Amino acid sequence: MKKLLLQLDSSSHPSVFDRVVAFDAGADEVMSYGGVTPETVRDLVHGAIFTRGPKHLNNTAIFIGGSDMAQGERLLSAAKKAFFGPLRVSVMLDSNGSNTTAVAAVAKMRQAIGSLEGRSVVVTAGSGPVGLRAAGLFAKAGAQVTVTSRRAGDGTLSETIRQRFGGSIREVAMADGSGAAAVLEGAEMALNAGPAGVCLIPRAAWVGRTGLRVVADVNAVPPLGVEGLEVMDDGATREGVTTFGALGIGGLKMKVHKACIARLFEKNDLILDAEAIAELADTL
Ligand SMILES: NC(=O)c1ccc[n+]([C@@H]2O[C@H](COP(=O)([O-])OP(=O)(O)OC[C@H]3O[C@@H](n4cnc5c(N)ncnc54)[C@H](OP(=O)(O)O)[C@@H]3O)[C@@H](O)[C@H]2O)c1
Repeated sequence: MKKLLLQLDSSSHPSVFDRVVAFDAGADEVMSYGGVTPETVRDLVHGAIFTRGPKHLNNTAIFIGGSDMAQGERLLSAAKKAFFGPLRVSVMLDSNGSNTTAVAAVAKMRQAIGSLEGRSVVVTAGSGPVGLRAAGLFAKAGAQVTVTSRRAGDGTLSETIRQRFGGSIREVAMADGSGAAAVLEGAEMALNAGPAGVCLIPRAAWVGRTGLRVVADVNAVPPLGVEGLEVMDDGATREGVTTFGALGIGGLKMKVHKACIARLFEKNDLILDAEAIAELADTL
């Protein structure tokens, strides 16, 4: 029986990246829908669960993506509501590569420092899909998390993450890289989750900083998000700090993403969101 992946994307054009990875990870066909809203999920999901008998539903699965993390969470919630009894299929949420990228970055940084419990970590531009998930995973693991955003200040960002993951999170407004030195004061780890081609952590903000042990960046597009790192860094030592660049993290991200897609077709009742994806990554 063909392995069918229903791609529900909140953006107007369903992600080509997610579609290619799905084929490479073993899907025989990817049915891609863009501009999906919570209101339109139910009928799309019904098409997926009513067509094959319960015994064969592990051959159908759903992938939720798009550039808006909050909307991705709403689509996931609507998909779960559309299931009933044995009529359900496995679902993965990975808006903008959020979960797989964050899981890979956090796993690498944890490996470099040992336990995350009590560690102080800064996530710059922590309001995007990747930053939100990374901050949440750090907080859930017991780290003291600081997230930055150009719009931070009223507590909405930190509360959103705390509600989903719990833990200790504070938010700080940071307009650009000129504010990074102050934000990194006392940090043991820093992860830049800013957009492509924007440097948010200049060299002077991290080099020679007492206590800073791990610095990572998920932006692969020059200028890099952390000045002085190399995009291929995968546990390099620079200025006494362990560093990870976007492609160093990206290799593990791709492995995790593909493993998740393959896992979707093993059972018909899996929900692969941040925590489940992190667990799966630990087994790789
Ligand atoms: N390495 C990998 O495998 C991999 C995989 C997926 C994604 N990525 C990369 O991961 C990064 C994060 O992705 P994402 O989708 O979460 O990011 P995003 O949503 O594009 O950006 C994250 C945040 O950056 C802030 N921002 C936007 N423009 C800015 C500017 N000019 N100056 C300062 N801050 C700005 C915004 O927050 P505020 O408006 O709140 O300030 C936004 O929420 C990107 O660089 C992406 O390319 C890497």
